[in-house]
Amino acid sequence: MTSSQSANRLGTIAAFFRLLEENVGISLEISKEYLLSSRLDSLARDKGFSGYLPFLESLLVSPVDHDHWQAFEAMTTIETMFFRDRFPFEILRDSVIPEILEKKLSSKELNIWCAAASSGQEPYSLAILLKESFPHILDWKINFFATDVCDQVLGRAENAIYSDMEVRRGLSDEQIARHFTSLPDGSYQLNSDIKRLIKFSKLNLIKEWLPMPKFDLVLIRNALIYFNKDMKDVVLKRMSLQLSDDGFLLLGASESLLFNPDYIAKQYANLRFYKKGIPWNN
Ligand SMILES: C[S@@+](CC[C@H](N)C(=O)[O-])C[C@H]1O[C@@H](n2cnc3c(N)ncnc32)[C@H](O)[C@@H]1O
Repeated sequence: MTSSQSANRLGTIAAFFRLLEENVGISLEISKEYLLSSRLDSLARDKGFSGYLPFLESLLVSPVDHDHWQAFEAMTTIETMFFRDRFPFEILRDSVIPEILEKKLSSKELNIWCAAASSGQEPYSLAILLKESFPHILDWKINFFATDVCDQVLGRAENAIYSDMEVRRGLSDEQIARHFTSLPDGSYQLNSDIKRLIKFSKLNLIKEWLPMPKFDLVLIRNALIYFNKDMKDVVLKRMSLQLSDDGFLLLGASESLLFNPDYIAKQYANLRFYKKGIPWNN
């Protein structure tokens, strides 16, 4: 490859990464170009291109449409599992949810948002936890929203059918037997008493949000790590306005919100939840 071909190639990749960031928030350095062949080559071939590069070139000369969104979705990291990191769910069960429920005893209404829900394992883990540990609230008014930008994972979440490997990543045999029905092809369908607790919708965190209530609990785990700092700050600011005064925010294990005036941290062992901060000018 000549140096001008190499420069063109890098220019195309950089322009596609900018488009991805503008539309989804995901910010990738040019050093992440190696992701393109594993994530885009097969989609490019399905669309009749010889590989990802001519596909990207064609995307860059047309307005953002279905093909672009397929490419954006293919670039998104959707890794998830039931009861991911386990410990946050123990703290939710033993401390945070009891604190929330105490505050909501009179209204008997609970608002929860799982804001980057991927294929559903995270919100369903929380719904399983509510059913197993707080069965008395199942007749409360529970508004449990789970959203994601990616249509493909939302479709999977709504179907709530998981492979044998997926259910075994995080659930005990007993939980699988209690909450799932095994299907003839060896996969598992989540039972409807858990499934119906959650309303899945498409929501892009960096674009307009649906009208939603103020939340008692928001989970936004392992999504903002892919955003640049400014984009992350904008989302977190909006998220603080979407939390109720007593609401809790939970981030992913590697994410932290120290020095953000919109939040104060509440420590549980070695895990931080966040609550709305007191604005400096008050
Ligand atoms: C790595 S997964 C994390 C899933 C789950 N929260 C967990 O921790 O297991 C990241 C999810 O964030 C979603 N995501 C990325 N950018 C987003 C955006 N702008 N708006 C909403 N969701 C987004 C992706 O589609 C993906 O499903």
